[in-house]
Amino acid sequence: MAEIRPILWDNGVLKLLDQTRLPLEQITIEIRDYRAATNAIRDMQVRGAPAIGVTAAYAVAMAAREVQAVDQAEFMARLTAAGAQIEAARPTAVNLRWAVQRMLQVAESVPDLNHMADTLLAEAQRIQEEDEAINRRMGDLGKDLIPEGGSVLTHCNAGALATAAFGTAVGVIRASWEAGRRFEVFNTETRPFLQGARLTAWEFQQLGIPSTLIVDSAAGMLMRQGRIGCVITGADRIAANGDTANKIGTYSLAVLAKENGIPFYVAAPISTVDLSLASGDEIQIEERPSEEVTHFQGKPTAPVGVEALNPAFDVTPQRYIEAIVTENGVCRSPYLESLKLAASA
Ligand code: MRU
Repeated sequence: MAEIRPILWDNGVLKLLDQTRLPLEQITIEIRDYRAATNAIRDMQVRGAPAIGVTAAYAVAMAAREVQAVDQAEFMARLTAAGAQIEAARPTAVNLRWAVQRMLQVAESVPDLNHMADTLLAEAQRIQEEDEAINRRMGDLGKDLIPEGGSVLTHCNAGALATAAFGTAVGVIRASWEAGRRFEVFNTETRPFLQGARLTAWEFQQLGIPSTLIVDSAAGMLMRQGRIGCVITGADRIAANGDTANKIGTYSLAVLAKENGIPFYVAAPISTVDLSLASGDEIQIEERPSEEVTHFQGKPTAPVGVEALNPAFDVTPQRYIEAIVTENGVCRSPYLESLKLAASA
C-alpha cells in the first residue's frame, strides 16, 4: 500500500490532497502563496491539527519568498504580519500557532536575508518529516492499549490525512494491527463535516483494516451492549491539566465510555499540548458556518432560514481520559505532572 501523504512540497509548489472532495474524488490542489494556503486551511481542504501545522509552516516559507524588506527588522515585521493571518485561519488547533511561531523563531536567527527563503523552506520540510516520525513513535508506544480480540472506536479523522503521514489515533490502531493483533474497529461518521465517514473509513480501506461505520448517536448503544472495548481519538489542543479539545462529539463519547466502564484514550503530539492554558475552559472553540449543518454538498437538509449552531470542537475534562499517548511517553493522571514531564523530554 502506498503511504497516504496529504501534503507534498514539489518544486516550489505546495500540493494538497483536497479533503473536501474525498472519498469520491482524489484531487490535488496547487498552492503558490501563503494566502491560498491560509484559505485552504480555513476551508478545510487540509484539516487535522498536525496537518494544518505542517501547511502553516509551508505557508510561512511561501510568505518569506514574497516579502520585500531592506533589513531584518522590516522583514520580520512583514513576516510576522503574514504569520498572524495564517494563525487566524482556525483558532482551536494549537499546532497552527506552534508551527508559525517555530518558523518565525528560525527566521529571527537568520542574519542574511539572502539565505532566508531556503532556511525557512528547510525548516518546514523538517516539521513535516518530524511529524511522520512522531506519529510512528506514538503508534509504537500506544499499540498495546488495543487488546487482541477486543474492539476500538475512533471519532473524526485522526489518521494520515490529518497529519504528515501515519496519523495519531488511527496510527495507534494501525500500529497495533500491524503488530499482528486482530480486533474490531468502529468509526463514527462525525457530523456535520463527515470526516469519519468520508476520510477515516477511506483510510481504513486503504490500510486493509476492516472497519464498521456508525452514526455518531449509535455509540452509546454499542457501548452498553459491550461491543466497544476502548475509544481512541486525536486532539486539537490539550491544556496543562489534561483537558482536551477535539472534534465536536468527543466529550459525549468520553462520558458514555466512563458510564460504561470503557477506557477513553487520546493520542496527540507534544505540539498539541498547550501548557500556557491551565484548563480546557480557556480553549477557544471554533464556530463554523451554519451552512455546514443546514446543507450537505450545497443541498439544503433543513428548512430555509433555520438557525443552526456549529461549534467544531468540544472539551473533554481530563477526568474522563484514561491516558494520553504522546511521542515522549504515555501520560496518565495527574496530567499536570505527566504532561509537563513529557513536554520537557
Ligand atoms: O475540524 P477538523 O477536521 O480539523 O478536526 C480534526 C480533529 O478534531 C482531529 O481529531 C484532531 O485534529 C486530531 S488530528 C490527528
